[in-house]
Amino acid sequence: MKLQANSLYIERSGKQVLQGISFSVDQGQVYALLGGNGAGKSTTLLSFLGFLLPASGQALIDAKEVGADIGAARKNIAYLPESASLYEHLNAHENIEYFLQLAGSAATQAHIDGALDQVALAPDARLRKLRDYSKGMRQKVAIALAILRDTDILLLDEPTSGLDPNAIDEFHQLVRQLADKGKTILMVTHDVYGACQVADKIGLLHSGCLVGEFSAEDGNSIDTEVVHKAFSASAKSPSKISQTEPA
Ligand SMILES: Nc1ncnc2c1ncn2[C@@H]1O[C@H](COP(=O)(O)OP(=O)(O)OP(=O)(O)O)[C@@H](O)[C@H]1O
Ligand SMILES: [Mg+2]
Repeated sequence: MKLQANSLYIERSGKQVLQGISFSVDQGQVYALLGGNGAGKSTTLLSFLGFLLPASGQALIDAKEVGADIGAARKNIAYLPESASLYEHLNAHENIEYFLQLAGSAATQAHIDGALDQVALAPDARLRKLRDYSKGMRQKVAIALAILRDTDILLLDEPTSGLDPNAIDEFHQLVRQLADKGKTILMVTHDVYGACQVADKIGLLHSGCLVGEFSAEDGNSIDTEVVHKAFSASAKSPSKISQTEPA
């Protein structure tokens, strides 16, 4: 499935938060949204879930406006929020079972273990209650849950927050594998290096404007240094600094 923002304007509490951004993510692609705090990254994800509707412009899934049928749009999306709220008094398996059920799906214990293997959550932790977990362990459960939804689209808001460097590398490999299997992935991150490793395209947001877009070409990953410089420059001067023309 294809995600597309088309001159998307979003207002929150009377303030223009997204100022006419346009970008697209094709099936099998990973698109990373980078930007400073308050740039509008999480707002962009929420607009694809229909939690925030455009003041003008469009959030499109396969060329259909999200707002026209929010239920249909959400069926195709697994969303990892910035701070996932899991239940402290349930263990990893119980949390996953409960939230899958809420989303109208289910998984066998073997499937759940398979997803927890993919995120490398220690087997001896899986039947412990989440109140005994570290931040990174909770994040792994939330990622496993998103994978198990097995939707065409993944919206991931700072998925590597709280993960240690090894877990971050493994997570990026997993994201790449999922995209290569045909998932469409839009990921918010503050990690320039990780974004360059995994993304087909990077969009740089500043104050609700897409001020730069970078694409991986000919099987090479995006140049970390170029993106890093653009990121710093955008904080100082938010004029257009695209390496490649926005799609
Ligand atoms: N619930 C809300 N109500 C009103 N305005 C909000 C709300 N949440 C965020 N905003 C405003 O929207 C703008 C964009 O916020 P958003 O959460 O999309 O930023 P972000 O790029 O995800 O930042 P961060 O990196 O800190 O997560 C900010 O100016 C913020 O003040
Ligand atoms: Mg955010």
